[in-house]
Amino acid sequence: MSVSYKDQYQQSIENPEQFWAEAASGLEWIKPWDKVLDDSRKPFYEWFSGGEINTCHNALDRHCSAGRGGQAALIYDSPVTGQVITYSYDELLDQVSRFAGALRGCGVNKGDRVIVYMPMIPQAVIAMLACARIGAIHSVVFGGFAAKELATRILDAGPALIVSASCGIEGSKVIPYMPLLEQALAIADTQDMPRILVSRPELPVDDLHPSALLWDQAMEQAEAVPCVPVAATDPLYILYTSGTTGEPKGVVRPNGGHAVALKWSMDHIYDVQPGEVYWAASDIGWVVGHSYIVYAPLLHGCATILYEGKPVGTPDASAFWRVIEQHKVSCLFTAPTAFRAIRREDPEGKLLKQHDIGSLKTLFLAGERCDPDTLHWAEKQLEVPVIDHWWQTESGWAMAANPMGIEPLPIKAGSPTVPVPGYDIRVLDDEGEEVPRGDSGNIVVKLPLPPGTLPTLWGNQQRYFDTYLSRFPGYYLTGDAGVLDEQSYLWVMSRIDDVINVAGHRLSTGALEEALSTNRVVAECAVIGVEDKLKGEMPLGFVVLNAGTTVDQATLKAELVQTVRSQVGPIATPRDILVVARLPKTRSGKILRGTMRKIADGKDYKTPATIEDPTVLEEIASALED
Ligand code: COA
Ligand code: AMP
Repeated sequence: MSVSYKDQYQQSIENPEQFWAEAASGLEWIKPWDKVLDDSRKPFYEWFSGGEINTCHNALDRHCSAGRGGQAALIYDSPVTGQVITYSYDELLDQVSRFAGALRGCGVNKGDRVIVYMPMIPQAVIAMLACARIGAIHSVVFGGFAAKELATRILDAGPALIVSASCGIEGSKVIPYMPLLEQALAIADTQDMPRILVSRPELPVDDLHPSALLWDQAMEQAEAVPCVPVAATDPLYILYTSGTTGEPKGVVRPNGGHAVALKWSMDHIYDVQPGEVYWAASDIGWVVGHSYIVYAPLLHGCATILYEGKPVGTPDASAFWRVIEQHKVSCLFTAPTAFRAIRREDPEGKLLKQHDIGSLKTLFLAGERCDPDTLHWAEKQLEVPVIDHWWQTESGWAMAANPMGIEPLPIKAGSPTVPVPGYDIRVLDDEGEEVPRGDSGNIVVKLPLPPGTLPTLWGNQQRYFDTYLSRFPGYYLTGDAGVLDEQSYLWVMSRIDDVINVAGHRLSTGALEEALSTNRVVAECAVIGVEDKLKGEMPLGFVVLNAGTTVDQATLKAELVQTVRSQVGPIATPRDILVVARLPKTRSGKILRGTMRKIADGKDYKTPATIEDPTVLEEIASALED
């Protein structure tokens, strides 16, 4: 008899050890755990302590031994280079075990960090799995980040080696990676860092640094190596994410809990069976890419698609339908912004009618709130359930979703449905009291968090505690605000910090402000996220110039936009930069970004009682009108 969502959820909260031990039995363990949940160091928890596992073994070797070796594992579909390459499980295992040997040959050992700064090419996935194979910890840096962001991550992770490529391809643009990499290594003062580089035909590596080895050479010389046992609690990867300050946070992902949670999610959330084709149209630089391009589909024995293209422009708004038809995709996962882009170009869905997408069972959306309009449009076009689900880099997998593999629940547009088993989600007021159902407040998760979630920040347990656990003792602070309704549906309304979400990319306004402040004429500045029809939000900058400065404003704006692009990355390009005489502040000097945002979005706002000078708000409104 099938178990209802309510029963499964209840079991996961009341008896988490039994619940997750059962889920863990679907994987192969080198040594069984001593304790499913180690709560001896509250508020820090560990899952499957004492256990030993290897994530790569469970993602590849296990399936090859079980007779899945000839099945497609990785389908590289690249409209920007005109290639489709399919790797079977056997072929992927061969590549990964040889690249693991290459890493070893370069002196990379268990526990060492490896930075992966790569476009969406198979070598990126191979490098990640190869790290997992030898117990090295990968840290993938999104290709759209500029040199300074890469340097920050190099400095924090302290890698033994970097894997990169000569270029990325964004639509029709070739983006050279080498200047960015060399600049980052110079900023981090690590110019001699060993690196392995993929030389792409679109822009071959011409001047090989003495510390660099080409991918093909490295593979030729390498011998395949077996998986090493790692502790379930050892990190599989570090993924940096934006917080309130410009300093990114290194989210740590442990091997054991991660494998258990992701495999469980494929059955229970996504309702996908081994052998089916799963497509997360995201980027390996983001958590969605880590979890649902690489690890979850492979842990589950699915074929996963690595798509090097865009929803539009590669070549047009039918790109997604072509991929679904060609590879018989049964589950698609992307960000709402991708669907807004498709809709903008093909509002009637005419291009869709030219394709047979009958293999598609479900569309999952995440990365930002899905507006009901986009949800309904996607439902109408695709004629399959469209599921908004809510999660973040820190959790690594969905915290609220419609559990399609347990019991599909009625969809309420605008809500990511209900808490996922394992997540005891509550809504608290600022004093830490639970608010009545239907009222809004801080969305938190009662500890312990389930397996797969972050146990700490890389090298900074104190920052982990301060950021997530200290505000409401006994709860994890998600950073989102919202409502739990009478039927336990969650409504995620806004962030409580200065994080903004641009086209599903999470950015810190602090990092953008740091970039603007580097200009010698800028006395102070503020960046806010304003509503955008395509990207959800876009950054908008306000700058106050040093007294007596005379500059051509158009030239200055162009210069400042360029500064943000080169220091943070092109994905953070501000919609505009406004020069203002003053910024609205509280009497204690805090910039009133929330009020500025409401003015910019044309929403009603109250003049805060703590404001130093209310007339500044009128100045901001008038700058926005101009
Ligand atoms: N490497 C280098 N540059 C990159 C990049 C990457 N991986 N990704 C984006 N950029 C650049 C783009 O080329 C663009 O540069 P430009 O300003 O010089 O033209 C800039 O960053 C902004 O890119 P983007 O935010 O992608 O906007 P866009 O207008 O090019 O495309 C969308 C709009 C909606 C099509 C696109 O944002 C998209 O596909 N979004 C889906 C997002 C997604 O998958 N998010 C993952 C979370 S699940
Ligand atoms: P990231 O860590 O980049 O995945 O960003 C996580 C943040 O994106 C969350 O904390 C939310 O603010 C937002 N987010 C992600 N998915 C959703 C969703 N389905 N609904 C609302 N907000 C979302």
